[in-house]
Amino acid sequence: MPETLLIFDTTLRDGEQSPGCSMNLEEKLEMARQLDRLSADILEAGFPIASEGDHDAVRAIAEEIRRPVIAALARANQLDIDRAWSALKSAARPRIHTFLATSDIHLQYKLHKSREEVLRMISFAVGYARSLCPDVEFSPEDAGRTDRSYLVECCHAAVEAGATTLNLPDTVGFCLEPEYQQMFQDVKARVPGMERVVLSTHTHDDLGLAVANTLAGIRGGARQVECTINGIGERAGNAALEEVVMAIHVRRDALGVETGIRAEELYPASQLLTRLTGVSVQRNKAVVGRNAFAHEAGIHQDGVLKNAITYEIISPRTVGMPSNQIVLGKHSGRHALMKRYEELGYRLTKPEIERAYTLFTQLADRKKNVYDEDLIALVEEGFDHLPELFTLKLFQSVSSSDGRSTATVALEKDGQVFQDSATAEGPCDAGFRAIDRITKTPGAIVDFSVHTMGPGVDGVAEVVIRARFQGIEFAGRFISHNVVEAAARAYLQAANKAAYELRRTANSPDRSPAPFHENELVNRYFPGGY
Ligand code: KIV
Ligand code: ZN
Repeated sequence: MPETLLIFDTTLRDGEQSPGCSMNLEEKLEMARQLDRLSADILEAGFPIASEGDHDAVRAIAEEIRRPVIAALARANQLDIDRAWSALKSAARPRIHTFLATSDIHLQYKLHKSREEVLRMISFAVGYARSLCPDVEFSPEDAGRTDRSYLVECCHAAVEAGATTLNLPDTVGFCLEPEYQQMFQDVKARVPGMERVVLSTHTHDDLGLAVANTLAGIRGGARQVECTINGIGERAGNAALEEVVMAIHVRRDALGVETGIRAEELYPASQLLTRLTGVSVQRNKAVVGRNAFAHEAGIHQDGVLKNAITYEIISPRTVGMPSNQIVLGKHSGRHALMKRYEELGYRLTKPEIERAYTLFTQLADRKKNVYDEDLIALVEEGFDHLPELFTLKLFQSVSSSDGRSTATVALEKDGQVFQDSATAEGPCDAGFRAIDRITKTPGAIVDFSVHTMGPGVDGVAEVVIRARFQGIEFAGRFISHNVVEAAARAYLQAANKAAYELRRTANSPDRSPAPFHENELVNRYFPGGY
């Protein structure tokens, strides 16, 4: 009988804190709902001390998502732990996840602490967290580069103080598989009381080994794995949840464990994250990439037509990926349409389905083949997914080769329509500037990408824009047949997110910064932060 492995998803914490992947509260909630549908065992919802936004998002997720354990991250000090607990305490199953670096490199250059001091801090932090919450995870940060005997001492201190899960992170993606596996075997064998504690992996992909090391950790005795959808995370990212889950599913014979993940929700989860962050996965990404199941070579195509198992070890259906690109004719019903949207990561309400259905039948009349990309364009053009402060009413642009393109934009806000124009080198930039003139919160473009989706000259283009407003980066994504308009709408989406976030934090009742003495406490314990 295979043992059950716990899936700890940290998309909303380690994933979200990586550049370009930030999400606002509504987006985090939407993602958390999908992770719940996926049946992740633990959701790490954020790092509450990091910002008011993180704290509020953890609290909102804890209040709404009741099945999985909801975890919040805290450094090993009282202030962080109190903040984590304040966000978590309404959760049905809360977990405080506290961490402290243990490698000599971190002790010497970052913490400026002795090994003894760090040991004391671990005992204090874990014990304090346990006094608030029955479920406490401890992570010796940079465990992969920590002296083994000292790591054993740190783990022992955490277990004695009441840690219920011990996570051994390869924070910088340094370990090779046999080393990572051995670390688990050593901790399991040398730390007293390990039979009461779940061991966990947490790997980063700096050398492209995150998933391989996760599997090595499992072979070494880990029964929880920490991972993120699409592998988003610090630097090169974390272990990709979908890859870990499918490796375990396909090779359970060799690994002897299984997960409770509903694999058919993997592709929708990947799609949803892409939509929310504007960060797409590469086409050849394992499990969820567009080409993950595409067979190009003639020999392969021939084999797959004869029997898919010749070249497919996973069926696209298993991970919830629509198996063919040509979808739905004009005689398809609402149910089929709704199902297809679910596969693409959209949960539409009844009125939204009605709206999508009307648009779909109109499109199916005009267009011979309706592809998934067309369906995405329909909902993205047709609906507001987030509270929109400004709604686009009109967009016109004139592109000129003399470097003086113009755009005119009309935006509606609170029932009033504002119109303005701007001139710039290109039509997209002119559109952005016209929007800025109305919203009065100018953004600086950080990244702008366009790619075509779907085949044929009537295919659609996806525009993803990342722009910085008042120092914070927001993403906008729009899919349309008109690239310039898509750029303006993507930019407006980012501007709306910025306006919404800035307004929300301005209205937050407890937005005032932590009192001075608390900051002082952090500084005293963690000079230079960590
Ligand atoms: O990579 C890491 O060490 C972490 C810890 C906070 C668990 O993300
Ligand atoms: Zn990490």
